[in-house]
Amino acid sequence: MQKNGTTNEINLHVDIAGVTLANPLMTASGTCGYADEYADFVDLSQLGAFVTKSITAASRQGHPYRRVAETRAGMLNAIGLANVGLEAFLAEKVPLLKKLQLPVFVNVAGATVDEYVAVAAALEGVDPIRGVELNISCPNVKAGGIQFGTDPAWVSAITAELRRVCRKNILIVKLSPNVTDITATAAAAVDAGADALSMINTFTAMAIDVEERRPVLANVTGGLSGPAIRPIAVYMVHRVYTQVARPAGVPIIGMGGIQHAHDAIEFLIAGATGLAVGTALFVDPACLLSIRRGIEDYLRRHSYHDISEIIGTLKTDPD
Ligand SMILES: Cc1cc2nc3c(=O)[nH]c(=O)nc-3n(C[C@H](O)[C@H](O)[C@H](O)COP(=O)(O)O)c2cc1C
Repeated sequence: MQKNGTTNEINLHVDIAGVTLANPLMTASGTCGYADEYADFVDLSQLGAFVTKSITAASRQGHPYRRVAETRAGMLNAIGLANVGLEAFLAEKVPLLKKLQLPVFVNVAGATVDEYVAVAAALEGVDPIRGVELNISCPNVKAGGIQFGTDPAWVSAITAELRRVCRKNILIVKLSPNVTDITATAAAAVDAGADALSMINTFTAMAIDVEERRPVLANVTGGLSGPAIRPIAVYMVHRVYTQVARPAGVPIIGMGGIQHAHDAIEFLIAGATGLAVGTALFVDPACLLSIRRGIEDYLRRHSYHDISEIIGTLKTDPD
């Protein structure tokens, strides 16, 4: 077998707007740090790409404790975009990421459009960074975050600004599920020049400590992720794929509750080209590799030779 992609019979390579990945699997932003934290648990070089946690211009401490809570079939987080900041990311984290020998997509966040632009501009031409994932969908920060991601006019404006600075890096816009019609924000991003869409970020949610009658999270609300959101994520990918992405020829990176190969295959059939795994990494970081093997087994069982043969192949007509 070649490095993390092709076996003799099965080709897992996918193309995300001109960036070739050896297989569709990547980390979901914010759930695998900057990679070095996970080095002892899983060989991340076997992935198709690595997606960093959100990077902002200055470092951020994030929200106070308690920032995460388990829920039935999922988790809530209100990390508040804690990160090392652009300068330390470039100086300390990029050299470590380089060792993975993978394309890296850097998730970018900010409180203002200018901050997004400054961070994205500084990532141009920095090896091994091949793409910027625009986080306009974080439900846990008041300035920026979800504010930008729920109004199609804002999505269009910020995507257009980022389009001007992302010349070498591909521009991936990460969509919020906290909207009435996700195809409207998807279309706004694509029309303003997004090279790819990633979806979905977390759902705004909360949990209450009934003994104390207080919110479990210090931020009161958090973002819900994990298996609980998967069927909604699959539905949203299906809608965006059929109504926006397929007609425009724009690839989707699907995520939301992927834990097993079956889940990943659902996203592929719904129309996702790339697959990101987040919450499941807290249970088993090595699930990324078992998911990849499971996709291969599925393709072999169905006599396919190339993963592209199943992407966007949902049958909705009566048998
Ligand atoms: C602890 C945690 C931190 C996250 N941090 C970020 C982040 O910094 N930027 C971002 O765009 N998404 C962030 N996310 C959202 C994930 O990237 C992903 O969109 C979401 O969790 C759905 O995928 P999952 O169900 O596989 O976790 C975070 C999710 C979790 C659970």
